[in-house]
Amino acid sequence: MTEEILKVEHLDKFYDDRQVLHDINFSLKKGEVLTLLGPSGSGKSTLLRTLNGLEDYKKGAIYFHGKKINPSPKEWQMLRQKIGMVFQSYDLFPNLKLLKQVRLDQYLNAYPRELSGGQKQRVAIVRALAMRPEVMLLDEITASLDPEMVRGIEEIVELLSKRDHMTMIIVTHQMNFASRIADEVLFLENGHILEDTPGKDFFDHPQTQRAKDFLDSMDY
Ligand SMILES: Nc1ncnc2c1ncn2[C@@H]1O[C@H](COP(=O)(O)OP(=O)(O)OP(=O)(O)O)[C@@H](O)[C@H]1O
Ligand SMILES: [Mg+2]
Repeated sequence: MTEEILKVEHLDKFYDDRQVLHDINFSLKKGEVLTLLGPSGSGKSTLLRTLNGLEDYKKGAIYFHGKKINPSPKEWQMLRQKIGMVFQSYDLFPNLKLLKQVRLDQYLNAYPRELSGGQKQRVAIVRALAMRPEVMLLDEITASLDPEMVRGIEEIVELLSKRDHMTMIIVTHQMNFASRIADEVLFLENGHILEDTPGKDFFDHPQTQRAKDFLDSMDY
């Protein structure tokens, strides 16, 4: 029941000469929700993008079901069917059946410009789910939506976790949502993991002053 899906070992990432991820280590088990938290520029998006083969890495290894990923374009193309990703900005190729699941079937024939931001994000989630991925990577998918839309999207993600037991890595600035959904929190700063803690412990008892300050700054 605690099958390990993803594992990251000693990962270093550079943009040119600048190191933006330092010795990243963690693992993700089937059905688990891992939340990446940290200030702007701490490397959250870079880490997610690396796990989707969109960034190269200089050192370290990523394992999928215990098998070390050979970071070639061909292997990543195959893996992206199993590791789906939804971004803050979206593009649209709606899959038909799944639209029902997110109550968007009345929009089957809509053009993207006729959809609100929240509707577009639901379609983007559907599109990623259409590949039947084993893991979903969600990078601030509610950023720039109005509060009502944010709630709607969060409900869908919570349903994916609680009903479908979807394995996910989520970047979010919504602390209440994170505290409800996170099994595990990685708190990043300047590309370092400062804390790797079960979700409840992170929010109740952050270990580092930096994490305390961060939670304060988010009004949590
Ligand atoms: N394509 C890029 N080329 C060079 N540097 C980059 C690139 N993308 C990100 N960076 C730098 O890498 C660091 C980590 O950025 P990243 O976008 O991963 O942070 P983040 O935690 O997602 O921030 P935010 O919360 O603002 O989305 C930052 O210093 C950023 O300026
Ligand atoms: Mg980001």
